[in-house]
Amino acid sequence: MSTMLRLHDVYKAFGGNQVLTGLNFNVRQGEIVGLLGPNGCGKSTVLNVITGYCSVDRGEVEVRGERVSGMAAHQIAARSVRRTFQLPSMPARMTVEEVVMAASTASHGLLSTLWRPAAVRRLEQDTRERAHHLLDELLLTKVAHLPAASLSGGQKKLLGIACAMMEQPALLLLDEPMAGVHPNLRSELVTTLKRINGQGITLVIIEHDMHFISETCSRCIVLDKGRTVADCLPSELENHESVVEAYLGKKPGGQFQVAGAVA
Ligand SMILES: Nc1ncnc2c1ncn2[C@@H]1O[C@H](COP(=O)(O)OP(=O)(O)OP(=O)(O)O)[C@@H](O)[C@H]1O
Ligand SMILES: [Mg+2]
Repeated sequence: MSTMLRLHDVYKAFGGNQVLTGLNFNVRQGEIVGLLGPNGCGKSTVLNVITGYCSVDRGEVEVRGERVSGMAAHQIAARSVRRTFQLPSMPARMTVEEVVMAASTASHGLLSTLWRPAAVRRLEQDTRERAHHLLDELLLTKVAHLPAASLSGGQKKLLGIACAMMEQPALLLLDEPMAGVHPNLRSELVTTLKRINGQGITLVIIEHDMHFISETCSRCIVLDKGRTVADCLPSELENHESVVEAYLGKKPGGQFQVAGAVA
């Protein structure tokens, strides 16, 4: 399978805080890859450098063989890359439905506001139908009319996924989609993400919940001290020496637990 995403020797520092220190990893088209690591190891920063929310100091990020490091966020988004945020903030004056519809680039532009021929109205109708479909899939239909900012933390996470899906991206990057989502919804979210992946969308998922990772991901990449310390199957995590060391700061021997997994 072809390479969807490639990070090569990526460095990123914030002032004196060297966060990424020669990070390398690849994601193939069609994979669901889990991105793990202790708090503060740089996982969200990885999503930020991939999507152009922050620049790299050195190294390269490539999407489908094209170098995107150095591009602006909107240029990377135009290459069919979408992401969600660990702590999403939503507008207070737009409803949930409006926020999802606004995430579609189809309804933007001067023409659609000044001139409304049938084709534009049809486009709007298609956008609305797609928004409703995604709200339904992400269990948000009941709150579609509410101000987006009034949603709970977990609902905002789901809304972020709906927005990211509006344009059917090639690569979808999720920052802790399960955090704050009720455990009862976990299996539905797993099913939804697998369905999304079944549509040909490559997924990279930051998550601490090991059960979720093992149910959802085909491969895991573990970061520590700004670089990849493991690239393995979810089932191999518990006994992976570098993973245990990353989380416990020592060689295996005692009990090891990564959010639910005990070795
Ligand atoms: N914009 C920024 N300005 C300054 N420092 C930053 C910025 N973004 C991230 N950092 C720092 O980079 C380090 C890694 O942060 P990051 O959010 O990537 O970690 P993380 O692995 O996602 O952690 P968590 O699991 O807690 O979400 C932290 O020390 C953080 O303070
Ligand atoms: Mg983070």
